[in-house]
Amino acid sequence: MKICVMPGDGIGREIVAQAMRVLDKVAAKHGRACETTEALIGGCAIDATGVPLPADTVAKCKDSDAVLLGAVGGPKWDTIDPAIRPEKGLLGIRKELKLFANLRPATLFKQLTEACYLRPDIVARGLDVMVVRELTGGIYFGEPRFDGMQDGERFGFNTMVYREHEIRRIARVAFEAARKRSSRVCSVDKANVLDVSRVWREVVIDEHARNYEDIELSHMYVDNAAMQLVRDPSQFDVMVTGNLFGDILSDEAAAITGSIGMLPSASLGEANPGLFEPIHGSAPDIAGQDKANPLATILSVSMMLRHSFAMAEEADCIESAVEQALEQGYRTGDIMQPGCRLVGCTEMAEAVLANI
Ligand code: NAD
Ligand code: IPM
Ligand code: MN
Repeated sequence: MKICVMPGDGIGREIVAQAMRVLDKVAAKHGRACETTEALIGGCAIDATGVPLPADTVAKCKDSDAVLLGAVGGPKWDTIDPAIRPEKGLLGIRKELKLFANLRPATLFKQLTEACYLRPDIVARGLDVMVVRELTGGIYFGEPRFDGMQDGERFGFNTMVYREHEIRRIARVAFEAARKRSSRVCSVDKANVLDVSRVWREVVIDEHARNYEDIELSHMYVDNAAMQLVRDPSQFDVMVTGNLFGDILSDEAAAITGSIGMLPSASLGEANPGLFEPIHGSAPDIAGQDKANPLATILSVSMMLRHSFAMAEEADCIESAVEQALEQGYRTGDIMQPGCRLVGCTEMAEAVLANI
């Protein structure tokens, strides 16, 4: 396994260091060789090179089988020229590697039922949602875009753009994912208002009719979807949506699993290496204090083993070690519950390591 590791900023360093210990142990246990190289992205790359995505980083990623990322950004770079913000590094590498499909599985570990913000009777119905977020299009990348002045006042806009081929390929990813799950896809849009969403809905319907009639397809407006997700998440299996809506809905889904510190993700394209990262950010408020929950990153390593290396056994091994650590009562602050043992980032990872 040739892996490019990019810790990034804030808690990124802490969580990636711990996730790498888990990877090393599971690789050793299963006799797998792992070659890693580290690269700069985000704020740390700006500090070292002046840009958030140095060419050397892109080259290292392209030369790897998979990429593991922590998080980018932080207050230090919030007032920098927007063209070279840390977040541009992340958007840039997603685009460079053509990672159009972002899988964000929100599952509630039964040990965290009490840490969930929803009523116990709602939680009892189960929570296992796969958010399939389009990652290289939509309003994040649409042109034209503008930030400036007009008629003597501040003026800005972005453009939400989707082309048929972009919608069709992400719909396919969602339908294929549903085939391995409960065969239900809910496509989320704002087709009652946005032209781009009407195109989105038509193409999803067409792709379904052509190739995926075995899947039960439904549609929901994004405002209702946000509401339904907290009212009764058990109604969802796979949710497929555009870049911005997927960003927002996946943070919401994460909170339902107990904490944003629990949700891993896989960003996949057709040929390039996949990129694996927790869905949360650099958490400046707790950075450098060994308080961050490393489980989303550790579970991202598990997704990497499953998706990029077809190592299902190794991936299962990590997931059950995480579950055991939770069962043994280890909790970082974000998922702390009465009667459990409050630990930091390092100790949580050590609890996982002990179960491998
Ligand atoms: P954030 O996800 O960093 O933090 C939101 C809240 O969740 C904070 O209270 C934080 O302490 C908590 N949190 C996040 N991860 C946690 C973890 N592993 N364990 C415990 N608590 C955790 O979002 P934000 O505050 O909106 O953004 C902070 C910075 O991160 C910004 O610069 C933003 O652009 C960036 N960001 C980066 C990514 C990424 O790299 N993929 C994602 C989101 C935000
Ligand atoms: C995420 C983040 C990023 C996004 C930012 C940091 C560019 O919020 O990975 O969810 O909006 O995609
Ligand atoms: Mn986000």
